Amino acid sequence: MSITPQFKEELRQRVRLSDVIGKKVKLTRAGVEFKGCCPFHHEKTPSFTVNDQKQFYHCFGCGAHGDVITFVMEMGNLPFMEAIEALAAQAGMQVPKPTPQEQEKYKKFDRLLKCSQEAAKWFMDKLHDPRNKEVKNYALERGLSEDIMQSFRIGYAPGEMEGLTAHLASLGFTDQEMVEASLARKSKKGGGVYGFFRDRLMFPVTDGRGRIVAFGGRILPDHLKKPETGDYTPAKYMNSSDTILFHKGRMVFNESIARAAAGKGAPVFITEGYMDVIALVQAGFHGAVAPLGTALTEDQIRLVWSMIPDEIKEPYICFDGDEAGRRAATRSIDRMLPMLGPGLSARFVFMPAGEDPDSLIKAGGKKAFDRCLAEARPMIDVVWQNLVEGKSFDTPERLAALEKSIQNICDLIPDSSVQYHYRSKLRERMRTEFSSFKQQRNQFQGKNTRRKGQDVVEMQGVAKGGTGHLKNLQAAFCYTLYLFPRFIEQYEEVLAMLNLDDAEIAMLRDALLECYEQSTETPVTEDVKGILVGDDVAIACKNMAQMHITFLSGQDDLQIVEKGLKELLQNMRRHANFDGRSGKRLRANAQALLGE
Ligand code: UTP
Ligand code: MN
Repeated sequence: MSITPQFKEELRQRVRLSDVIGKKVKLTRAGVEFKGCCPFHHEKTPSFTVNDQKQFYHCFGCGAHGDVITFVMEMGNLPFMEAIEALAAQAGMQVPKPTPQEQEKYKKFDRLLKCSQEAAKWFMDKLHDPRNKEVKNYALERGLSEDIMQSFRIGYAPGEMEGLTAHLASLGFTDQEMVEASLARKSKKGGGVYGFFRDRLMFPVTDGRGRIVAFGGRILPDHLKKPETGDYTPAKYMNSSDTILFHKGRMVFNESIARAAAGKGAPVFITEGYMDVIALVQAGFHGAVAPLGTALTEDQIRLVWSMIPDEIKEPYICFDGDEAGRRAATRSIDRMLPMLGPGLSARFVFMPAGEDPDSLIKAGGKKAFDRCLAEARPMIDVVWQNLVEGKSFDTPERLAALEKSIQNICDLIPDSSVQYHYRSKLRERMRTEFSSFKQQRNQFQGKNTRRKGQDVVEMQGVAKGGTGHLKNLQAAFCYTLYLFPRFIEQYEEVLAMLNLDDAEIAMLRDALLECYEQSTETPVTEDVKGILVGDDVAIACKNMAQMHITFLSGQDDLQIVEKGLKELLQNMRRHANFDGRSGKRLRANAQALLGE
């Protein structure tokens, strides 16, 4: 029953959004919209709006957004089709009947789900069968409690080839269904099928709705394992192949439990394996998930983000603290950089070397894991560490190489705002940790550390009392460039050489230069604001600039701005003492700029 866009549209027309939402949320009219307290996050003052004309709701607090169908899905935690059916009933509409092919597909889907569920039951029976008590003892030794074995429906696949398949056949499942559910393989010798999982501890994999769709099977420990024949070494874990129920790269282990926990504010953890997730859940961290025998995929990252209802989505990714874990972290970063967005990231948790969450919790309890968690690091921290660890940056060339690496990494982030902040944070770190560009500029051009005899421009007022006036001119010059950063390029050198006594003007100047260096396109005021983290500094300069910026009318006549900048430069020159070598350069520069 494919739901066409036309059908959805008619549904949206027939049921009024504010009526549906009004049953759950107290709405009050505000102009063409309704307002109320957001049902998707806790709030006291209403920031949730409902617009019947545009047929959507939007929360300015948490970003929740959607139409009547998403509202019913989210509020009732209903799958798409059930939401459609509920709304159609309300609207007196008939949900289109499925085509015969669709019917066939749903039937198949249903059969395979039942088949998997029966298999899980059978595996569970085997685990609790007294004849297999050694296997169960192994599970207990691994720290799995009876309760957790029940709730994860952990089981045991014995060694016999046809135990499961005979059982499923007795329940009426066909060979083909068993094969299509990836529970059996066709026998090469002829006709029949045999169980795919044998001699393994079984972990059912559930989908987003908690239905069993696949299995992971762990090899038994050495003392229970059959001696190997030939040179074939079986894999430690076997996983179901992809089926119509199961898509390895698009699902995570424990999604449904973790989603529910995340919905109540629990942190979300991404670990490596089945045992880690189970150990975390047992320790009270219900938000744990794991990829299924593959490296974390983009789809899985998006899935995990979708589980977190806040604007800030930062799952904790757990890694072994050893070399392999570090490499895995780097791979995750490479995968995630192109996906980052406002609020979308991850935190990195490193276990002690050689440990995974399971072994750590087993050895040191929840406390040991909490300690690692307390040291969780934001992604940018790990990016920085990868850039600089074990390297030295004691030459300009090495610093330049670092700068280039920063650039390359930032280029991988398509979101312009995230990219901007990554670049500025990484460069800031480079400046603070390795004496570099900015410090040198301050040193040589004397922001605070002006030394006589050095090659600096003495842009001091000639007459006593002139300094104040000069300061105002400098503030006006910088503030104008702040409003029109496109002109920084033209005045870059003059700007860099200004000898500024006032801390705020100096900050603005530094930000202007930094912004210019960083920008790949024509810089804009917002960029400078970002560097300064707000507009306090600019406003302070504007106040100092006083009557020197009267040419700024609030309208962007660039010719007038350009002329204004020239006049400011002329005035600064009149008030300054152009001595020294740089002075000469500045004079020449100013002359050229002024067209003299
Ligand atoms: P590990 O080898 O780290 O195993 O694989 P583990 O989870 O710590 O298992 P225990 O503690 O020894 O029982 C981590 C995950 O990688 C996948 C599984 O999902 C496993 O949980 N894996 C590993 C496979 O799919 N196949 C393998 O052969 C090995
Ligand atoms: Mn382990």
